[in-house]
Formats: sequence, C-alpha cells, structure tokens
Amino acid sequence: MCGIVGYTGSQKAAPILLEGLKKLEYRGYDSAGIAVLNNKVIEVNKVTGRIANLCERTADGKNCPGTVGIGHTRWATHGAPTDTNAHPHMSNDGKFAVVHNGIIENYIALREELIQKGYRFESQTDTEVVVHLIEMYYNGDLKKAVIKTSARLQGSYALGVVCTDEPEKVYVAREASPLILGVGVGENYFASDVTALVSYTRNAIYMDDGEFAEITPDSITVFNPAGQPVEKKISRITWDVGSAEKGGYEHFMLKEIIEQPRAVKATIAPRIKDGEIILDETELTADYLTSINKIVITACGSAYYAGCAGKYAIEKLCRIPVQVELASELRYSDPLIDEHTLLIVLSQSGETADTIAAMKECKNRGATTLAVVNVVGSTIANTADFTLYTWAGPEIAVATTKGYSTQVSVLYLFALYAAKKMNRIDDKLYNDLLECLKTLPKKIQEAIDMNSAISTLAKKYHGVDSMFFIGRNTDYAVALEGALKMKEISYVHAESYAAGELKHGTIALVEEHQPVIALCCNEAIMEKTMSNIVEVKARGAEVLAVTFKDNHKIVSLADDVIFVPKIEMIFSAAVEIIPLQLLAYYVAKENGCDIDKPKNLAKSVTVE
Ligand code: AGP
Repeated sequence: MCGIVGYTGSQKAAPILLEGLKKLEYRGYDSAGIAVLNNKVIEVNKVTGRIANLCERTADGKNCPGTVGIGHTRWATHGAPTDTNAHPHMSNDGKFAVVHNGIIENYIALREELIQKGYRFESQTDTEVVVHLIEMYYNGDLKKAVIKTSARLQGSYALGVVCTDEPEKVYVAREASPLILGVGVGENYFASDVTALVSYTRNAIYMDDGEFAEITPDSITVFNPAGQPVEKKISRITWDVGSAEKGGYEHFMLKEIIEQPRAVKATIAPRIKDGEIILDETELTADYLTSINKIVITACGSAYYAGCAGKYAIEKLCRIPVQVELASELRYSDPLIDEHTLLIVLSQSGETADTIAAMKECKNRGATTLAVVNVVGSTIANTADFTLYTWAGPEIAVATTKGYSTQVSVLYLFALYAAKKMNRIDDKLYNDLLECLKTLPKKIQEAIDMNSAISTLAKKYHGVDSMFFIGRNTDYAVALEGALKMKEISYVHAESYAAGELKHGTIALVEEHQPVIALCCNEAIMEKTMSNIVEVKARGAEVLAVTFKDNHKIVSLADDVIFVPKIEMIFSAAVEIIPLQLLAYYVAKENGCDIDKPKNLAKSVTVE
C-alpha cells in the first residue's frame, strides 16, 4: 500500500526522501514521486515503476535543490498506475503539493464541486481533491486551510502538504491512516512507517486520528481538529537499522524465517517470570476472565490463520468457546457480541483496515478488546483496551513469517495464563506446559536446522499447477497458513482442506502426480490422517508428509517426508509451519517469483 515521507531541515531533502521511500518499498507500490521546495518553487518528479527510476531521473536526488520536501509511493486504487496519477499532486496555482495515503470516500462529490468552481483536475485520483480544497480555502493561513480541508474529507488519510508561501514548513494530517513524526535536531521528519525514519532518528511522535501538525526544522506542533495545540509524548523507536535491512540474505523473507527463534524468544521470555506468566500490560483478572462467556478472535490473512491455531490451545486449556472470524466478514455480520465477549485482535501491522473496522464494531457492542500487534503505536494498538506486543522487530517481506509465529506464541501464552486465572488447569499441567512453552524458540531453531535441504525438495515440487494441503485439528490450522504462503509468493494454486473433508468432494480433483502436502504432527488423530494419505495415494497423488522427528510410520506411506522436532501438540503450529514457509520460499525461488514483493499484494492492507 502507499507510503509517505517528508523532511524539513538544513540538508538536501531529495536524497533523504528517496532513502525513506526505498525503506517503504516493501509495502508494495507501482509508482513514486517527490516534491521539493526550493526558492519558493515546488519541483515535482514522479515516475511509474520502481524508485530506482526516480533515483535515475534525479541523480539520486542530487539534481533537486531544496531542504524541504514530501515523497510518496503509490499503490493504485483510483486510476491506473501512471506518471500523472502518481503523487505528489499540485494545486492549479503551483503553490501547494500534497501526498496522501488512504482513500477519500467522498471524492466524487468534492471533485464535481471543485470543477464547478473552476479547478482543473490532472489525474483520476481521489487525492487530487485535497490539494484543490487547500488551494480553495487558503487565504494566507495554511493551518486554517488544512483544518477546513480536513473537515470536508470522509474516509482515511495521512497527508503531507508543502506550500511556497511557508517555505520551511510541512503540514501533516491524520485520519485512520498511520502517520509518525520523526524528531531530529535542527531537522524533522514524517513517515507512514517507522522503517523510513529509523536511519535518521529514534525519537517519534505517533499521531492520533483527527490530529494535524505543523513541522519546521526546529519545532513540531500537533493540533486537535479544532486547531488547539495538544501535548504529545515522544516515544523511543527500539527497532535497529540492521533489522530493517537484508543483512546478507537474498530476501527479507528468508532472513525473517531465520529470525523466528529470536523473535519468539523476545516475545515470550520477558513474560515468564519465576514460573508464572505475567501479562502486566493487561488487566485480564480472574474475575474478568470468569465473567466472559466466549472469546472471539478476529484478523485477516495469516493473522486469521494464527487465530485458528490459537483457538485449539485456548479451548483445550480454558474450556471456553473460541470463535475465529475473518475481520472483513465479522464487521458486516451483525455479530453476537456483548460485554461478556473478549475480542482478541491479531495484526502484524496494526493498520489493517478491515481488522480496525471489525474491532471498532465489536467495541461498540461492549466487547473488551485485547490486541496482539507488532507495530508499536499503530492504530490497533492504540484503539484496543489492552495490547500485547509481539516483539518480532520490523517485518519487511510481504509474506509474513515471524509475524505469524509470534502471534501464535502470544496466543499460547494467553491460553496458559487464562487457564490458570480461570482455575481450569492443575498446577502440574500448568508447570509442564510452561516448561514446554519455554522451549519453543529452541524447537523452532531445530525445525529450521532440520530442513536446510528443503531447497532440493522444492526442485521436485515446483512448476506444478496446484497443491493441496491437508491436516486435522491443529495440523489443519497449519495447513491453512502453509497453503496461503505457497500461493502468495510462488503463485501456485494451493488449497487447504481438513483431511476428513476430502472425501466429501475435493478428492474428485486428485489425479496422477497431484502434490498433496499432508500434515501429521498431531499424534492423537494421526491414524485418521494416515488413512487420508492412503486415499489420495490410491488416486495417484504425490504425498509430501510433515511429521515429528522419529515418526517412521509415515515414511512407508508418503513419497517424501519432512521432519520437525516433537513438541506438545497444542503448541505445535509454531514449529510445524517452519518447513512450509521454507518450502514456499524455495518453490517461489524455483518459479522465479519476486519473493519479497509478490504481485498484486501489499504488506499492510490499509483500504477495505
Ligand atoms: C500474509 O503473508 C499476508 N501478507 C496477509 O495475509 C496478512 O497476514 C494480512 O493482510 C493481515 O495483516 P496484518 O497482520 O498486518 O493485519
């Protein structure tokens, strides 16, 4: 999705803007542009395609003098990806340039109004109405023009505005789209994502909905929608520059797969003290937990599948019903949610539009909301009643890996914590499971080490048209995520099925050489899954089984076997997913795909 950056200071702005935009490339985009203010003139450069084209056009920014500017990467929504539709957009009088993330929902009515008033539109974008509204409302006071413009906009926006009359200033405004201000010394920044700021400053101000800010090289003033200044806290960015870079790996995805033991350890270890799970970021007391009658987990994509894996652990240990709902469905389903519901919201980015909307809907119906989020200060983290951060560090690859495994790990922690608080688990089982959970980072490392040769297997399983992923119970939850990983980065059609469902229809599709990835780590129902392997084998399928170390029963049934270390069944998803992430990665590599930036996908889906 789109990304924005801005700078005001004493250095040349263009190289800083271009570097910032490069850090946002991972979000997915199809065009990019910058606007730099120099001697009261705004110079705009924008191109379709990669930021490299913009760097080439501007000689890495050296050809653009000026110390104040704004930049944008666009992921087309309204209008094709063309140079004209790329941001920044200019006012007719050449006085203002604007960059925008989000969607202006009432842009058609605004566009008609502005055209009638004589404003000329160059692009097909929703954004262009913003710059013409500012031009219309400007009478020498940019702050007032921004207030009046914001009041006319419906939808979501993070805006950056420069004006030739106020050559040192940048204005920004936020509504339902992330916006972070970077606090420097004699220079200041803004961006839609901390990864664009972290090379320049670690001091950040997270803007809230409805706020706007005036940024000069020496000051940042944040205002509420009425234009009154508000006190904002300066937060420290803890992510290091290295973790936002590839560090010698060919792709971010591979780096992030390898980082999972560290990410899971950073997420769970600080929350286990003296044999107890401490979730002191929350107020999930025994009284509260015993007062609820169900838990609803909501999320999108992989985060939803993390919820599917977590459901088994929570239901098994807490004996409370857990519903896992796709956020895009939940929000429109008139959900049966009230003050006796705990809503758990999972999101790596904390900015997924559907998840935010579902969460707000459930909050309005009285649910208590617990967010499990990776990005500090994100909208979901700020909106929830309580937030448990997954300390995975920045996740750059579009396909999530460490985001998923850390979400699952937090749900495991929560399951055990809640079971103890609700008095649904005896001390022995609690202690045994806690000891087991502590070994999770080590087991994930073993799963990575045991599968270093998976690239060879990928040579056999690449180039096919479709794959089936099957499993039962916890294995089924992993099959869902395994299939998503495969399709999103390798472009192979991959379907996941509860293994027992095959015979109710899907088995009709199984033919000679059809690859079937069979997950068999759940010992309790292994015999049943083995029967399903036999069924698909009888129809000519090529079966790749995933099972725990030393389980040789499967070897004689399957064509190929991937082993993972054995762990308590309810915690197995975080381990079992590792070879499937690696398989998807290496199949995508064999298929020649753009692994970190798969086609049509964006890292953070900030539109509905
Ligand atoms: C997973 O690899 C995808 N990139 C996608 O399904 C993602 O998990 C989903 O869009 C949710 O994102 P979030 O965790 O940032 O809310």
